[in-house]
Amino acid sequence: MSRSGTMSLIAAAVTIGAVAVLPVAMTADAAVPGSLGALAAAKGKYFGSATDNPELSDAPYVSILGSEFNQLTPGNTMKWQYTEPSQNQFTFTQADTVVNLARSNGQVVRGHTLVWHNQLPGWVANVAADQLLGVMRNHITNEVTHFRDQVVHWDVVNEAFEENGTRRQTVFQQKIGDGYIAEAFRAARAADPTVKLYYNDYNIDGIGAKSDAVYAMVQSFKQQGVPIDGVGLQAHLILGQVPATMQQNIQRFADLGVDVAITELDIRMNLPRDTAKDTQQANDYRAVTNACLAVTRCVGITVWDYTDKYSWIPSVFPGQGAALPYDENLARKPAYAAISAALGAVPDTTAPSTPGPPTASNVTSSTATLAWTASTDNVGVAGYNVYRGDTLLAQSATNGVTLTGLSASTQYQVVVRARDAAGNLSAASAATTFTTTVAVGGSCRVAYGASNWGGGGGFTGQVTVTNTGPTAITGWSLVWTYANGQRVAQMWNATYTQPAATVTATNVSYNASIGANGGTQSFASTGRTPAPTASRRRSPSTGRTAPSP
Ligand code: G3I
Repeated sequence: MSRSGTMSLIAAAVTIGAVAVLPVAMTADAAVPGSLGALAAAKGKYFGSATDNPELSDAPYVSILGSEFNQLTPGNTMKWQYTEPSQNQFTFTQADTVVNLARSNGQVVRGHTLVWHNQLPGWVANVAADQLLGVMRNHITNEVTHFRDQVVHWDVVNEAFEENGTRRQTVFQQKIGDGYIAEAFRAARAADPTVKLYYNDYNIDGIGAKSDAVYAMVQSFKQQGVPIDGVGLQAHLILGQVPATMQQNIQRFADLGVDVAITELDIRMNLPRDTAKDTQQANDYRAVTNACLAVTRCVGITVWDYTDKYSWIPSVFPGQGAALPYDENLARKPAYAAISAALGAVPDTTAPSTPGPPTASNVTSSTATLAWTASTDNVGVAGYNVYRGDTLLAQSATNGVTLTGLSASTQYQVVVRARDAAGNLSAASAATTFTTTVAVGGSCRVAYGASNWGGGGGFTGQVTVTNTGPTAITGWSLVWTYANGQRVAQMWNATYTQPAATVTATNVSYNASIGANGGTQSFASTGRTPAPTASRRRSPSTGRTAPSP
């Protein structure tokens, strides 16, 4: 989906008193009305998604990625392993692809991540202790310089603390010492004076030993003048376990004078999904969204990819998953609606327009085909309901349907109503009346023959219907079931439907009448393999035949 407008990157913070806040323009132009990105932008925040290069060949996925979100994070390809796989050999091609996509969509980009013990190429571990600080600075300088003015945040250091609040014993910690984090931030600032510099970690979403340690570090950086602008709360959460102190935690970081971003949100559950879990997950997503909305300096939320199709969870937590607001088929889950509502979406109360009156065709003793002029809707028509009086006869996703299971020789007066995804129903269309034909049964005989084409590529079927009753009939249909997957390819002198194994053939206008006491009509068809090798004769009471291979 294309969008109008251009990306507005304003890297410098606006200073209001002593508090630096993100300019609204930094949230980018989320041009698709009602999208999560547009709703967040209206509140001065972004709503984004992680993505990864292999997913960008999935066109439906890319379409939603572009229309629904106003921020992207490359899930992998800005990491050290990808950008400096050999010492001082820098390659940004894959990350550039994501950045360029974001630019064409009018989305801002979070840079993730410069210094992390994971996804680190093997050569880094072999760097001598007295060289590693220089190597780390060189990596940061090259990458930050390459993406200058193209990313709005950098996760400068990622996951440097253990659960108990002590420093993780990474190669950087062990060879450079406690000062490596501050040095990383200084190197990033030197390479780009305006991009926002973040510390990012998991399990620091609520107040606890680990977030206390990060809080202390930020406080000390602020006191020492180390350039830190934000804290990223990854928020890889578990169903029903959104920390009760999340908003309070966001607020205490904000009160230190840094921004806060929810950087990698997902909420996993034990599989399989069910309605109760989906409802709980929706409540959890709502709680996280509200926690961010409640604090001015919480600048935005990023889901760690938006669809269960591409979530990292099942490969790392066997038996768990379904963690994102879209399912594996890219359909919105209740979590989506909860986020949307929390961001201020106005509930849709507008019903679709009234559909045109249905017209009936191909009426048989048990079926009729209806078609009508489509409705329109402010959001979108989800489908149509067909009623006889108060009875729902059928539902259809499109502006037409074939009614089945009708009673023979019966008058039907039907109306159609359109519905939207919010459950709004249009007014009823004008009514249409049709009468099903008399049933053919117990007074007919059917002869069916089939012959293979040479080579076994298909077969020809010939059918003759004989009226053995004492009265002439007008309108007939013949129903049979193929036993071995045969499909009708073409039919002459009858129309047909074949949704699966069962074929319904119905007269055309010029052979509707069959005279009494032995009058006949015939029709023929070609079919695709496997071809029948023999045929059985009809069942006289039902008029059905069952050709068998
Ligand atoms: O690229 C190779 C591919 O060539 C190979 O065939 C395939 C076989 O497994 O692996 C591919 O690499 C995988 C890579 O993702 C790209 O898909 C790695 O095995 C896999 O371990 C790696 O996982 C990433 C993980 O970080 C690594 O720790 C996830 O995609 C990524 O979503 C995840 O993201 C992290 C954040 O960066 C930091 N916070 C936690 C978050 C979740 O773990």
